[in-house]
Amino acid sequence: MARLRAGVLISGRGSNLQALIRACADPAYPAEIAVVISSRAEAPGLGFAAAARIPAIVIPHRDRCAFAAEAQARLRAERVELVCLAGFMRVLETNFVEAWRDRMINIHPSLLPSFRGMHAQRQALAAGVRFAGCTVHFVRPELDSGPIIGQAVVPVHPDDDEARLSARILAVEHRLYPLALRQIAEGRVRVSGERVEIAGTSVPELAALNPVDSPAEPLASKSR
Ligand code: GRF
Repeated sequence: MARLRAGVLISGRGSNLQALIRACADPAYPAEIAVVISSRAEAPGLGFAAAARIPAIVIPHRDRCAFAAEAQARLRAERVELVCLAGFMRVLETNFVEAWRDRMINIHPSLLPSFRGMHAQRQALAAGVRFAGCTVHFVRPELDSGPIIGQAVVPVHPDDDEARLSARILAVEHRLYPLALRQIAEGRVRVSGERVEIAGTSVPELAALNPVDSPAEPLASKSR
């Protein structure tokens, strides 16, 4: 069966790109990365694309419209069917977003719709929430909004700082993004209004309290 051709847009570190590249390395995985587009020439993530021999280009994001036109041309040329934003740090032009409606996804390090925008993990710590996480969603013109495909949750620890919480969230980002891409590539994901239906999934039996009085608390998650 033909694999879904994904284009990945990055601006920096590229650890989510790396997670997607790893998933795609399995011949049984139903998607492949056709092209990587970076808005920054010095993005370390470009190294992962090069190591995996994936075509990669840099389109400096000086002007929103010029970026959109160039990115669109390249995505078309590579016959990309789905765009994955993976740490892409610029706001995309509205026409570009609309052109990829329900065919462009993003990962954000919070349980949306909480904590949109920059420094989501810092916002979560400041709010004192007991659980944090990440979200993969279809992209709409409004920042960090759109139908939610999947979420992963982690506990917040009392001694967390931004770096520690970010690392805990990032570990689950690297599981969630390849999972969501697989579900889409298998044709199981349908947008219905502002909600997403995914065929053939089940919901985990999960209820976690945080904090708990003792580690023996039956509903508590033991993960750290
Ligand atoms: C991730 O936390 C992602 O959720 C957010 O930007 C960060 C990108 O990290 N959108 P990386 O470049 O994938 O390592």
